[in-house]
Amino acid sequence: MGETLKVGLLGYGTVGSEVGHILEKHSEMISKRVGATIKVSKVLVRDASRARKNPIPAGASIETDISAILDDPELDILVEVMGGIDPAYGWIRAALEAGKHVITANKELIAVHGGELLDLARDNSADLYFEAAVAGGIPVIHPLREALIGNRIELIMGIVNGTTNYILTQMEQGNSYEAALKEAQDLGYAEADPSADVDGHDAAAKISILASIAFGSRVTPDDVFTEGISRLSIDDLAYAEELGWVIKLIGLAKRVEGGVDVRVHPTLLPGDHPLASVKDEFNAIFIEGDSVGELMFYGQGAGGLPTASAVVGDVIDVARNTMAGATGMLGCTCFDDNRVIPIDEVVSSYYLRTAVLDRPGVLAKIASAFGRYDVSLAKVLQMQTLEEDRAELVMVTHESQEANVRKALEEIDSLEEVVGVESLIRAEITEGN
Ligand code: NAP
Ligand code: HSE
Repeated sequence: MGETLKVGLLGYGTVGSEVGHILEKHSEMISKRVGATIKVSKVLVRDASRARKNPIPAGASIETDISAILDDPELDILVEVMGGIDPAYGWIRAALEAGKHVITANKELIAVHGGELLDLARDNSADLYFEAAVAGGIPVIHPLREALIGNRIELIMGIVNGTTNYILTQMEQGNSYEAALKEAQDLGYAEADPSADVDGHDAAAKISILASIAFGSRVTPDDVFTEGISRLSIDDLAYAEELGWVIKLIGLAKRVEGGVDVRVHPTLLPGDHPLASVKDEFNAIFIEGDSVGELMFYGQGAGGLPTASAVVGDVIDVARNTMAGATGMLGCTCFDDNRVIPIDEVVSSYYLRTAVLDRPGVLAKIASAFGRYDVSLAKVLQMQTLEEDRAELVMVTHESQEANVRKALEEIDSLEEVVGVESLIRAEITEGN
């Protein structure tokens, strides 16, 4: 094959080493599909002496100084699989300014700086692709930007973090949170700092990216109400199972009156919801568009090889653009300026668990506090009697405004018969389930 396109690979860890391996293993097949050879010619790491899962691609040099890559005029494409905002942000800016095409798996960076970097790519006739930044190996960015672009997207609900879905699945099977997190780290699913996974920030970055594309409006992680899984109680997982529900860490983006509702938190789902059966490190994104209706993307959302599949797909796309002389982006697709509604204005159903003194009249007092704040109860269940005169109540509300639910709970918590409000979990359930 005549022409060769040269790639600089920034990072050779869990994802980067699989990118190098796939590009080498499928080199011949890829050449046929692109009409040119794609060759990794430089690999940047922090520690050149570290043992690697896969060998550095044949003929590539290993570098520890970024200038060897940024100053190399022969490199056509940069693949950033290091993670973190700095120094990736400055290096990607410099690469785009030099007219190099960039592919990144870095959701944190794209969620915060994506709009500006897309504009920079456009201004320098370069491509900037980031399919792997959301849901690992699952194609969802390309479908939203291409096949679904004629739809008005109404809703996205996703299990977009593999680590937390893996932990929740293990906890449902009776295993401990700590052991499950350690396994997720050993399997290469977790971020370098796993608090990004368990505290929901990784999912918030991903739902920000999806919401920005779907609603044609910038949504950044600072706009997104975020709650992780670290305070989730094993009792709630068990009760949910007993009642035919599941609890998942969900990233949600919904058009609502007066703006868009974008948030990440543990969410109670009915057992027959399409997202309820998504287990382990698998991810799924459920989308509703006005023309297409409901659809769901499902697959491996974390792990080196699935994520590298998405990165290599982008490399091939960019290479094909280059061969066709058709590189260059539209820039940020932020045409509208939608308000992201604050959590107090959110309308949802709620699962609430309280410990109470098992005495006559307690339920009436709780119900009347909810009534005063316009919160109507759909279900009340006495789950078990705790020690002596104490009982545990699980209540599920009809759709209510979050601020009202919180005010009612404050009043309920102060009742002398209430030992404590133990849990508040937002629920996506409909009447009847
Ligand atoms: P990783 O295993 O920690 O690998 C990071 C690589 O980048 C390492 O090779 C490291 O070099 C190199 N690196 C980091 N900072 C550097 C610096 N300042 N200068 C030079 N090299 C540097 O991370 P990963 O799991 O592959 O993740 C990479 C990116 O993919 C992140 O943005 C992550 O969010 C994203 N992602 C990961 C997954 C997944 O399942 N792992 C899925 C989707 C997206 P050394 O090896 O010498 O330390
Ligand atoms: N840490 C992330 C996860 C990797 O667990 O989903 C994929 O982005």
